[in-house]
Amino acid sequence: MAKDTVKAGLIGFGTIGTGVVKLFKNSAELINAKSGIKVELVKICDLDIKRDRGVKLAPGMLTTNVNDIIENPEIDIVIELMGGYKPALDFVTRALKNGKRVVTANKALISKYWEEISAASKEGDAEIMAEASVGGGIPILRGLDKGLAANKIEKIMAILNGTCNYILTKMTVDKMSFDAALKEAQQKGFAEADPTLDIEGFDTMHKITVLSRMSFGKGIKHEDIHVEGIKGIDYTDIKYGQEMGYVMKLLAIAQRCKEGINVRVHPVFVPQMNLLASVNYEYNAIFVRGDAVGDTLFYGKGAGEMPTASAVLSDVIYIARNMASGAKHVRYASKAKAEKVKVLPIGETINRYYIRFNVVDKAGVMGEITGVLGKHNISIASVIQKEQNQHAKVPVVFMTYAAKEADVIKALKAIDKLAIVKEKTVMYRVIE
Ligand code: HSE
Repeated sequence: MAKDTVKAGLIGFGTIGTGVVKLFKNSAELINAKSGIKVELVKICDLDIKRDRGVKLAPGMLTTNVNDIIENPEIDIVIELMGGYKPALDFVTRALKNGKRVVTANKALISKYWEEISAASKEGDAEIMAEASVGGGIPILRGLDKGLAANKIEKIMAILNGTCNYILTKMTVDKMSFDAALKEAQQKGFAEADPTLDIEGFDTMHKITVLSRMSFGKGIKHEDIHVEGIKGIDYTDIKYGQEMGYVMKLLAIAQRCKEGINVRVHPVFVPQMNLLASVNYEYNAIFVRGDAVGDTLFYGKGAGEMPTASAVLSDVIYIARNMASGAKHVRYASKAKAEKVKVLPIGETINRYYIRFNVVDKAGVMGEITGVLGKHNISIASVIQKEQNQHAKVPVVFMTYAAKEADVIKALKAIDKLAIVKEKTVMYRVIE
């Protein structure tokens, strides 16, 4: 007999889990209509089933035993929202081996263990969908996988962490301190359980790994990606950047180049005219260039309870629709035969640079600096130095033309050894 209801179980009743429960309740009619079948959330598992999340549940829905979901023959879809590697990997692979469809928002997990997850999914003839893992509510995985399927992806530049974007926006617009802005982002429910994943750039790295694998082929690993976070960014540099017409953003960049793929995460000065410069607060944006489509921009809320729940439910509806129509799983486009790509070391990349030297204010200083820069093939585009009362230490800010990163690093190392330099030099990459 054909099924008349698709049943789902949820693992992880935190911020996003609560959003998913609310959306299931508040949009039940719409979800059923769009799925073409009744979709019901029947079980929720969490270690803490006492805390009041402000949602009313039917008796018996809550459990602390994950087997009530992953070993439950009644459940078709397992929604994993606990995050982290362990024990999520075990739960997800067991569910897949049991033939369950899995929906997850766990970017850390899928970016690190995609091969294991894929194998489990094949073993159980199951499928996994992860729209909520990148860009919160923005349908970027579906956009890349389906909407842009006919394109060779050439470049992705993205703001992928709501917490970092919120902090940088608050520092830029409200001149707020880093710590106060982080606290606000946490209170609003954007941050990871461990916010160092956000501010040190690793959450962004997990997300660009997922996007890069979908776009450029397999073989891109966490270890290949150069990562710098936003901890320690000084308002002084945000201000100088603004004076020069730039806005500071934490970007993930993945780009096809002659030698392979260039993938990295670090703070960048973005020109004020670039659309990414106006993506503020918890909003995310993903710029994608395809060979046929040209430039596209996906924009929306990249973090928070309801935007992320929206992406989770989109996967649930997608799966339920397939189940209702009797379609076989439609996995993400298979990359099984995709080429292994070479990831370019950061030293090989070419960028423009913002460099702030802290030097004594006396004759010949500029000559010493420009001498070293020139020796390393670094050409200067503009300079700011403001007259100050004290001559012991003055900031001198340079904007360079495009240069090779390895040359810049060598030059800065040499300059930092000079007696005229009073503090470690600060460097940020700049995009055009
Ligand atoms: N901590 C993440 C962010 C949540 O701030 O964007 C969404 O992945």
